Amino acid sequence: MEVFILPDEKAIGEAIAARIQKVFEANPKSNLGVATGSSPLSTYKALIDLVNAGKLSFKDAHFFMLDEYVGIDENHPERYRNVIMTEIASQVDVDPENVHGPNGNADDLEKAVQEYDNLIKETGGVDLQILGIGSDGHIAFNEPGGSLVSRTHVGVLTKQTREDNARFFDGDLSKVPTHCVTQGLGTIMDARELCLVATGENKAEAVAQLVEGGISALWPATIMQMHPKAAIFIDEAAASKL
Ligand code: GLP
Repeated sequence: MEVFILPDEKAIGEAIAARIQKVFEANPKSNLGVATGSSPLSTYKALIDLVNAGKLSFKDAHFFMLDEYVGIDENHPERYRNVIMTEIASQVDVDPENVHGPNGNADDLEKAVQEYDNLIKETGGVDLQILGIGSDGHIAFNEPGGSLVSRTHVGVLTKQTREDNARFFDGDLSKVPTHCVTQGLGTIMDARELCLVATGENKAEAVAQLVEGGISALWPATIMQMHPKAAIFIDEAAASKL
């Protein structure tokens, strides 16, 4: 696993965007794995700049989201599909029809997650997956203690994650969904390249476990140690426990 310690979020965003540019130079029909949270925002900004400058195009791309809340109102700004549309998809030239995510509002959730896992494979798989990390080491919504080889599944959000995310729901824990649909760790590991972003001191322990800890379901991101092409992009604060 490659580790890049960079001065700030802007440098991190530009470094990951350059990798994505390389992937799309090699094959304009590549598939990009997109993530929510604040971590990928500087990457999205750098990607939007590249597209506006005519140096990158997503017109033949598919975007695959990592996860989604279950039962959230379709128009809620925190619905992950809406977040991805706002932060990246609507600002680049990807066809909105090619922006895919697990459907957290399906009548049959088990069927929906299976279909999503299949869709990723049938579309050729994810070429590069952008990832953030939770302070407890979760990636997507794969919370500590889950399977290290899981496929896309319905999950229960931990109290910690719901409390962390309450800020997006008027600070009201009762408004935070209790369940999610998420790509599993096995699904994420199928991506041909992984780029994880972590900044700030509250990610330092998770980063230390990710880079130097043993592989453990208690720190889900540690499974990335098994990936042949994984890189993490962190700032000094997130690197402070290495
Ligand atoms: C949520 C998302 C994750 C994300 C994490 C960290 O739990 N499901 O994909 O990595 O938040 O978010 P942030 O980047 O805002 O710290």
